[in-house]
Amino acid sequence: MLKSFDIYSQNNILKIIVALNLLLVGTGSLLYTDRLITKLEDREEQYVQLYTKAIAYASDTSHTNMSDMTFVTSEILQANKTIPAIYVDPNGHISYKLNIDLPADLTDDQQQQFLRQKIVEMKKKHDPLVVDIGNGERGLVYYSNSSLLRQLTYFPYALLAILTALGVLAYLAFSSSRRAEQNRVWVGLAKETAHQLGTPMSSLMAWVEYMRSDPAQYDESITDEIEKDVQRLETITARFSSIGSIPTLKEENLNEVVRQFTDYLSKRISTKVKMSVSSQLPPTQMVKINKLLFEWVIENICKNAVDAMKGTGELRLNMVPLPHQEVAIDITDTGKGISKANMQKVFSPGFSTKKRGWGLGLTLAKRIVEEYHNGRLYVKSSEVGKGTTFRIVLNSE
Ligand SMILES: Nc1ncnc2c1ncn2[C@@H]1O[C@H](COP(=O)(O)OP(=O)(O)O)[C@@H](O)[C@H]1O
Ligand SMILES: [Mg+2]
Repeated sequence: MLKSFDIYSQNNILKIIVALNLLLVGTGSLLYTDRLITKLEDREEQYVQLYTKAIAYASDTSHTNMSDMTFVTSEILQANKTIPAIYVDPNGHISYKLNIDLPADLTDDQQQQFLRQKIVEMKKKHDPLVVDIGNGERGLVYYSNSSLLRQLTYFPYALLAILTALGVLAYLAFSSSRRAEQNRVWVGLAKETAHQLGTPMSSLMAWVEYMRSDPAQYDESITDEIEKDVQRLETITARFSSIGSIPTLKEENLNEVVRQFTDYLSKRISTKVKMSVSSQLPPTQMVKINKLLFEWVIENICKNAVDAMKGTGELRLNMVPLPHQEVAIDITDTGKGISKANMQKVFSPGFSTKKRGWGLGLTLAKRIVEEYHNGRLYVKSSEVGKGTTFRIVLNSE
């Protein structure tokens, strides 16, 4: 059965509201600029048409009043300072150009060539407008969009980019506040547990002392066992209190730490699980760890392995050197394996496939390895029905 904590559902609603707002603003602006662009395009076409008419008027030889003609064309030249246009007369000569900056020091031929090139570009965007100058003769006006309109067509893309960036930022803000919240829950819970365990434990210690002082009444072997249990409880409390504060790291001999702890663990798990440790590391390999927390990680992974093997199988720990001054501790079991779909999920808080599982063991282990030791913890390989290897990578610099 899968379980998961749902204390962040409120955050999800907020996320959806923000996302919807972004979407609304986004589509709204897109539609608006789209309309604006269409309108501007219409207007620019009207300008060009006006220009076309002016040329037709100017070319009409029946007008003898030259000042009148100049007035019309100059009016139109004034009115439109942004739309580039070229007029090609019925003989195919370029006779007018508007709003096109020619590069300096071109010969006449080069100028023509430059303008012809422009015409090719303009033709791709708009069909030329026909100038009917009478006698069945026709010239053509080529034009392209004003720089304003050109910039405006980029606007929706810019807007989209900005909105996406905003969305990503909002998402990051949300998830980091969520992470901060998770952190507070972890740390608070850990500190509280350590604190609460403290009192009954000192009292237990006092009881053990009391029993020891009267060996006639209390069997020494029993007192010894109880003392071991109390020590075990002390370890747990120490772990909880160190996860609740910034833990200190110390140079430790990795081979020794792992071997010692495996010895300790093997006595506490089913005798049907064959536990073994091997190492390709130099015997003096040191790593900076917090022993208490590191052991907790090993314990969590090994316990899961034992669970996955239903109490019988092989549990192998192997230490290997990696490039870049890293070392790996591989923990391999012959258990039920993890499906591809679950490989990442096993580290999420609350994910458990066990009846009595809390789904916190691996979350905690990952946190200890990655946040406190700057290392990595992941499923190195797993095959359903065959077994699983978890890998812890630590830096040994
Ligand atoms: N060695 C493993 N083999 C198969 N499945 C595993 C192994 N280790 C972890 N898992 C899966 O990951 C889940 C989460 O593990 P964990 O975080 O320790 O929580 P819990 O042990 O409480 O279920 C387990 O319920 C199990 O489904
Ligand atoms: Mg577990």
